Amino acid sequence: MMREIEDKERVCVTGAGGYVASWLVKYVLLKRYMVHGTVRDPCNEEKAHLKKLEYASENLQLLKTDFLDIEGLCAAVAGCTGVFHVAWPAPAGSVTNPEVQLIEPPVVGTRNVMNSCLRAKARRAVVVSSVGAVFLNSSWPKNQAMDEECWSDEEFCKNYYCLGKTVAESEALEYAKRGELDIVTVCPSIVIRPMLQPTINASSLLLLSIMKGLESVEDRDRSLVDVRDVADALLLVYEKPEAKGRYICSSFEITMKELTDKLKSLYPNYNYPESFIKVDEDLKLSSEKLQNLGWKYRPLEESIHNSVNNCEERGVLPKV
Ligand SMILES: NC(=O)c1ccc[n+]([C@@H]2O[C@H](COP(=O)([O-])OP(=O)(O)OC[C@H]3O[C@@H](n4cnc5c(N)ncnc54)[C@H](OP(=O)(O)O)[C@@H]3O)[C@@H](O)[C@H]2O)c1
Repeated sequence: MMREIEDKERVCVTGAGGYVASWLVKYVLLKRYMVHGTVRDPCNEEKAHLKKLEYASENLQLLKTDFLDIEGLCAAVAGCTGVFHVAWPAPAGSVTNPEVQLIEPPVVGTRNVMNSCLRAKARRAVVVSSVGAVFLNSSWPKNQAMDEECWSDEEFCKNYYCLGKTVAESEALEYAKRGELDIVTVCPSIVIRPMLQPTINASSLLLLSIMKGLESVEDRDRSLVDVRDVADALLLVYEKPEAKGRYICSSFEITMKELTDKLKSLYPNYNYPESFIKVDEDLKLSSEKLQNLGWKYRPLEESIHNSVNNCEERGVLPKV
């Protein structure tokens, strides 16, 4: 059963202007929540799309907050019954000290968000993690789909994004284990378009890279999920009282070669890679726990059509 939304319930969304968060803000506004969206620069034109969302003029407040500023965060979360922690920094400039530049800020930021929830006595916080905190586990049995019991091995993580996600998510869940906060985490796989925000984020480059004439690509396994299905999942785990722990949020497993073939069959006139370098891996993720909670996802073809149209409309992909 879904919870009834109390009259004008308030929720906070961190990093509100980002790719995933913009869709989440759209959906929570449509459900008539009052939204405190944190952004680092509310005057930035790149956040203008938020103000144009339905019900934004009356129900969305954009608050200037950096997640490293605990007092600012506490002010943003004050009065909210729920918090969606979506923000995550993209590395800026050259990285000379990955621990300090890539791990510390988001881990401290997540801790600050959890502490601001504690102070505000929030009912539940939903933390966006990633399958990067799941799949880098060398001891998981081969041929068995990875589920929420599987954690990336911090020693084995050569990827700082995945390491940061693993540390931040496990720290967040510790708050729940200690009984201090009701925390649910969601681990999306690669999130594919369409975008509401004006600038292109990293995961949106996946389809573009295939359709823009690379000569060869590594034929890796990719797990994909539509951004709108991620936003649905975040709202679902927030609203369902029985949601608990972590949830993998991934719809499709596909190799780069299979994805290319699918794109080619739907949009034959683009310039596709001809050669594929096979990489021996076998990535299987199970979103059964989320599906059992009631999550549904749209067909891959729908995501592809919407993504390609979105790219063509924005001129990042020529119409051919
Ligand atoms: N996209 C994917 O494929 C994917 C897959 C799995 C998980 N995820 C996770 O999903 C979440 C959203 O990803 P996304 O692709 O939507 O990223 P995005 O578009 O880059 O958005 C990230 C947001 O984080 C905010 N941010 C960065 N540093 C901050 C700081 N110090 N304080 C406060 N806010 C800060 C940015 O805010 P400003 O606007 O103020 O710069 C930005 O809006 C992240 O947690 C990401 O790790 C994404």
